[in-house]
Amino acid sequence: MSQVVQSRRLRAVDLAKRKAAGEKIIALTAYHAHTAGILDAYCDFILVGDSLGMVMHGMESTLPVTLEMMILQAQAVIRGTSRALVVVDMPFGSYEASREQAFMSAARILKETGAGAVKLEGGARFAETVAFLTQRGVPVMGHIGLTPQSINTMGGFRVQGKGPDGERILLEDARAISEAGAFAIVMEGIVEPVARAIATSPQVTAATIGIGASSFCDGQILVLEDMLGLSERTPKFVKQFGSLRAHIEAAVKTYADEVRAGRFPEDAHTY
Ligand code: KIV
Repeated sequence: MSQVVQSRRLRAVDLAKRKAAGEKIIALTAYHAHTAGILDAYCDFILVGDSLGMVMHGMESTLPVTLEMMILQAQAVIRGTSRALVVVDMPFGSYEASREQAFMSAARILKETGAGAVKLEGGARFAETVAFLTQRGVPVMGHIGLTPQSINTMGGFRVQGKGPDGERILLEDARAISEAGAFAIVMEGIVEPVARAIATSPQVTAATIGIGASSFCDGQILVLEDMLGLSERTPKFVKQFGSLRAHIEAAVKTYADEVRAGRFPEDAHTY
């Protein structure tokens, strides 16, 4: 992948330009300053996802994640980056009650972190909220299909878009939040024909970002730890571009062996 030279931080509008130019949008998640710093040159946007609850904290779902947790990790990611747009997930319970609640949470995220946009889960039923936020200066990324914050009503992490109404419902979700002003939409776990119909629909002007939603989307996102091979289990849509778990385990084992055997530290590590 070529490295794009860019002096200022990318903004939400830049993703629309990528889409218009037919250039793929590149994104990964990050929760730490140091890993975000590595991604910065290669990603158009970095998502501080609420998946941090599961990836960093070993939670069973994203539901217990708080606004304070999101803000803390987003501050770290902003400190570690200078170029990529940073998008921060609105956690469960921080936006669903009313448009006003959503604005207060989004305003905290933008003010306290310096991030350039927020992401919220849900389709047509959140179109009013998306419009309320964008009209008040908050760039919003939507998230449809498999929406992990709805795990209890969806009945588990299930691929979406199946069944006779699958395409109609998801296309309506995408169209509604795109028309409400969302600059991009994450499409997660959606069967290919439906993902294709949404990504190529003239009614969906927002950039489509796929995760398990085919190659027809305008861009792709993966959870960093999944694609690096750090996670214990990964869904079918993840390609492991690295095998860090094996590398870390080998390094830790060597360290333990050397300390036990008195081979570390050596003279070179001693004052
Ligand atoms: O929280 C997250 O990491 C996400 C991605 C899976 C898109 O929402």
